[in-house]
Order: sequence, then C-alpha cells, then structure tokens
Amino acid sequence: MDWKVPLFELNYDARESKAVTDVLASGWITMGECIQNFEREFSEFLGHGSLATAVSNGTAALHMAVLALGIGPGDEVIVPSLTFIADVNVVRMAGAVPVLADCAALADWNIDPADVEKKITSRTRAVMIVHYAGYPCKMDEISALCKARGLHLIEDCAHSPGATYKGRHCGTFGVVGCFSFFTNKNLSVGEGGMYVVRDEALHRVGGYLRSHGMSTLTLDRHKGRAVSYDVLQPGLNYRMDEMRAALGLVQLEKLSEANEARRKWTEHYHDGLRDVAGISIPFLDHPDGQPSYHVYPILLDKGIDRLAVIEAMKEKGIQTSIHYPSFKEFTAYRELSRYPTPVADEISRRELTLPLYPTMGFEAVERVVATLRAALKGRKEHSRP
Ligand SMILES: Cc1ncc(COP(=O)(O)O)c(C=O)c1O
Repeated sequence: MDWKVPLFELNYDARESKAVTDVLASGWITMGECIQNFEREFSEFLGHGSLATAVSNGTAALHMAVLALGIGPGDEVIVPSLTFIADVNVVRMAGAVPVLADCAALADWNIDPADVEKKITSRTRAVMIVHYAGYPCKMDEISALCKARGLHLIEDCAHSPGATYKGRHCGTFGVVGCFSFFTNKNLSVGEGGMYVVRDEALHRVGGYLRSHGMSTLTLDRHKGRAVSYDVLQPGLNYRMDEMRAALGLVQLEKLSEANEARRKWTEHYHDGLRDVAGISIPFLDHPDGQPSYHVYPILLDKGIDRLAVIEAMKEKGIQTSIHYPSFKEFTAYRELSRYPTPVADEISRRELTLPLYPTMGFEAVERVVATLRAALKGRKEHSRP
C-alpha cells in the first residue's frame, strides 16, 4: 500500500546508518561494547538505581521477568485486559494462570486498581501493568496495593520509554520494567527490548536467563578473560546484537525530542478532533504523569461501523489500526471470557488508532482529522451511546 499517511514512520537519519556501519567495520557484531554502553546509558536515563539488561525483544523481557520471579504452575498473575497478547502469553508459557483486570473507565484505559484488588486470590503472585499508549498508570495506588498484599509488580513499558509519573520514569516502580524497541515503538531498533531491575540478584539472574545460564560470554573468551564456561541455571538465548544496540544508543539520544514531537502532534489532534461528532478521546486528564504519546487512540461512538471507517480512511490513503482486539476472541484464549471486563470489552469493540510518529507534521495531522471527519459524516445518527 502506498499510504499518504502511514500509521508509523521510522525516525531514522544518517546517524543510525553510521552507527550500524561502524559496528560492521569493527568486526564484532554481538554482545560487545555497544550492548554495554546501551545498558549503561539506558540505566542512567531511567535513574533510581536501574540495572538494565538488553534483550532480543520486549516479550523476552516479560518472559524473563516472570521466570526470574519464580512464577510457574499453580500461580496466578493479574494482567491488563487491554494490552498486547505478549503479557498473557508469557504468563501462560511459564505455566501460570493469567487473570484479567478491567480498564479504569472509558476515559482512562489503564488497569483499574480497584478491579486488580478484586481479582487477588491466595494464588496471586504478581500484577502486570501496561502504561497504555504511554499514559502512566496510577502508580501510587498500584504500588501501595502490591506492597500491602505482598505481590510482585511487573511493568510492561513497551509504550512508555521516557514517560514519567510524578517525575519518576515508568519502568522504575515495579520489581521489573520491561521495554520493547520493536520497529513502531518510541525507541526503535527493529527487534529489541530491555529487562530493567534495581535488585542485584534479579539483575544477575536476568543475565543468565538471557544467555543460556552461562557464566561467561563469547566476548570474555575472545578477550582471553575466560577459556570455558559453567552453566549456573537453565537459560535461553534472548541476546541483542551490536547493530541493534548501536541503533538503540542513537535512538535514546533522540528520545526526548521525539516524544516532544509526539506531544505536539497529539495536541494538534486534540484541537482538530474536539468538534468531530461520533468519537471521544481518552486520557485527556493525566495530572500526575508525563506521557510518551506512543499512539493516538480514539473511541468511536456506539453503533458506528468501525470497519467501514477503517475502509473509508484506507481509500484516502490513511492507515489506521486497532489497539487491541479482545483476548477473549482469540482461539487460544476463549477461557479468558470467565473474567468480566466490560470496560475493556467495549473499548476493544470501538477503538481506532490514528497515525502518530515524530516526523509527522501539522499537515499530516490535519489530513487525518479531515478524512476522519468525512468518514464519520452520515454515520452519526445511530452513534450516540
Ligand atoms: C504492550 C506491549 N507489550 C509487549 C510487547 C511485545 O514487545 P516485542 O514485540 O518487542 O516482543 C508489545 C509490542 O508489540 C506491546 O505493545
């Protein structure tokens, strides 16, 4: 498709190309200095004693979090009902049971602390949250609840690099913060992620889980620091390579400016969409958080045919998406229907994601707004909730 406004566009320039070319010229392409620098700089960026381990993707970071905390058969993990399927998958892959908690409201799509509390049982070991679209969750309430009930808090920060809550970075509240650097993310390397902890022991375990449980790396042997290795615990291969770490270092430098551009386009959307009938906009009120504006989600009024809107936008060259379909409709997860999550179910039926990326520009935002306005015209008679 030749989109006039794609959902996402890479924020890359000659700096990313040079970073990768330099790695190739160095002759060392996996787990070397770029990884170490990326981990150190990402830890410093987050602050609060963060210890970051670069991994192959965000799902790997989430999987490592669950494994590092010893979660397995017989355990339950409370997960958001409106997020990417990776959150549920990693819990199930560890042999534990994912329990869905609902969104707070149609205006605040993050996990509802009151519903989390209702879902706690004697088997609950952890609560996983996602800062949806980069809007920080209610961290005071969630952290206090986890502390009071002795539960691990895992933060899925796939949408929230650079987002803060009361001045503190998302990813530093939980026992583990899990970042994704997938292509369309705020910090983009293609495939990549970060497992972030503050506890030394969990940091060590993360290093083993990432690389087969081995006591030394190929780099250690190359540098003559080790001859062989021991295997200290079962592990996986969730390593990141040097090219991606080099991209990550450049993208980290650009992150604040890129998030600021996302904020500007988001506010331009807000202005343009204010008088468009047939939609509402979530997260207009987030007094305690500085979001990272990962995507621009809207809620279509009840009765509007979402597929027809998507089609009308597509005809005019505007790409849209859905964040997220309900888990309950996935073949592998029909059993999740046993958890009542009426708010999330409603959002899943009516959500539409509009294009948002740092290089977007005012004109592209205006084009999307005008196209959406036209696409919704005549559809609004049956549309009010
Ligand atoms: C909320 C959320 N969690 C987890 C992931 C998984 O990250 P990755 O694709 O890097 O494995 C994603 C990425 O798509 C995501 O959006």
